[in-house]
Amino acid sequence: MKIENSIALVTGANRGIGRALVTALINGGAKKVYAGMRDVEALNKNDPQFLERFKGKVEPVSLDITKKNQVDSAVEKAYDINLLINNAGIANYSGFIAADDLAQARQEMEVNYFATLAMIRGFAPVLKKNGGGAIVNILSVASLINFPMLGSYSASKAALFSLTQGVRAELAAQGTQVMGVFPGPIDTDMAKGIDMEKGSPEETAQGTLDALENGQEDVFIDPMAVQFQKDLLSDPKSVERQCGEMLPA
Ligand SMILES: NC(=O)c1ccc[n+]([C@@H]2O[C@H](COP(=O)([O-])OP(=O)(O)OC[C@H]3O[C@@H](n4cnc5c(N)ncnc54)[C@H](OP(=O)(O)O)[C@@H]3O)[C@@H](O)[C@H]2O)c1
Repeated sequence: MKIENSIALVTGANRGIGRALVTALINGGAKKVYAGMRDVEALNKNDPQFLERFKGKVEPVSLDITKKNQVDSAVEKAYDINLLINNAGIANYSGFIAADDLAQARQEMEVNYFATLAMIRGFAPVLKKNGGGAIVNILSVASLINFPMLGSYSASKAALFSLTQGVRAELAAQGTQVMGVFPGPIDTDMAKGIDMEKGSPEETAQGTLDALENGQEDVFIDPMAVQFQKDLLSDPKSVERQCGEMLPA
């Protein structure tokens, strides 16, 4: 998939990795980017120049991915895309047992798994009509092993990894490339409470687009993610133990 002249939709585009993806797409020669976000006004307040900078190339779309009517309107509006980037996600930092009830775990499944599935189902026919194109799902290293300090988030991201594999097979016949990105900690609002070395959203965004152009399927970009993948391949049990030890005593 070539970024040059592509037409993309990015979810959760108002901040963090999503906003960096929009910038990288435009800098990489994309013809147009639909920037899906829950609150366009909030973006205008935080970064008044953002939409102005890319005038004519970036079109904001009101899109809460858990709202069926908004997903349906996005499908109607962004009928010309050949690249869907499912980036929107939430992390409640809740454990399976430590949480008061199931509300946080359900919300993570709702956004990270079910709503992303709804986006893929909505846009699969659009991508087919436009020649196949590509879907990128922003997963996490937590898709591959449980981090108990964000146990229910890890479960939702593991579900999204499984979805990514299944959809790749189902959409192969229509020529849609399906890629998963597995970031480690990245310096965004989501990871502000994590005291570890972090990758940058810009490096994550550029690495994502480079991997897409290279036809990769499973992508590890930041140094922690690259090391994590190596450790997981050589000694998965030891990685599981180390993740468990991150829980506060
Ligand atoms: N940061 C990390 O360390 C890290 C590591 C691995 C994977 N990831 C993944 O990377 C992706 C981007 O996260 P980030 O680090 O950029 O976090 P972030 O700064 O917290 O941004 C999350 C984005 O998702 C949007 N979002 C949340 N719920 C939504 C919904 N129902 N509908 C539409 N948009 C919604 C947010 O919109 P609002 O502004 O409206 O809330 C925001 O734009 C997520 O999928 C995350 O799981 C992050």
